[in-house]
Amino acid sequence: MVLRAWEEKDLQALSEMENRCFADPWTKAMLADCLKYPIYHTFLAEEGGQVCGYGCLIAVFEDAEIANIAVDIPYRGQGIGEKLLSAMHEKAKSLGAKQSLLEVRVSNLPAIALYEKFGYERYGVRKNYYADGEDAFVMQKTL
Ligand SMILES: CC(C)(COP(=O)(O)OP(=O)(O)OC[C@H]1O[C@@H](n2cnc3c(N)ncnc32)[C@H](O)[C@@H]1OP(=O)(O)O)[C@@H](O)C(=O)NCCC(=O)NCCS
Repeated sequence: MVLRAWEEKDLQALSEMENRCFADPWTKAMLADCLKYPIYHTFLAEEGGQVCGYGCLIAVFEDAEIANIAVDIPYRGQGIGEKLLSAMHEKAKSLGAKQSLLEVRVSNLPAIALYEKFGYERYGVRKNYYADGEDAFVMQKTL
């Protein structure tokens, strides 16, 4: 498996995967913004030329945010999410971040388990955070 940054040519595949992975997917324009602005750092997992997972990190001074992370359905449960998250933490640390934050649907047990495996703790709840009214846990980890 190769880990690299997103490129313009990946946007269509990323958008299709985003639609498969999320009830409230980022639009293609939102994904394209990640290539445009330097606060975004992008990660793509590729297996034999096939995009199988991706992530987007926002790093601003001492704070990093896991803005997006997903692994396509056939590739789940093979450690790709862990590899993406580790790479994002390493990048955040190299940029001087001291903590990482994220929001996750309270019902998203696989993602919560992944984050807890990496030492994230529940820091608070954002009520009605998602468009369908679901709450989000805010999770935090010291880097
Ligand atoms: C969350 C997600 C990225 C995990 O990716 P993955 O590549 O399948 O995860 P990994 O194989 O690296 O698993 C790492 C750990 O995550 C947890 N985990 C992953 N899938 C899980 C599941 N279905 N149930 C419970 N825990 C799970 C486990 O702790 C696992 O460690 P273990 O194998 O030692 O038990 C993937 O399920 C996904 O893309 N979900 C849809 C998008 C999403 O919800 N993103 C997060 C938004 S906040």
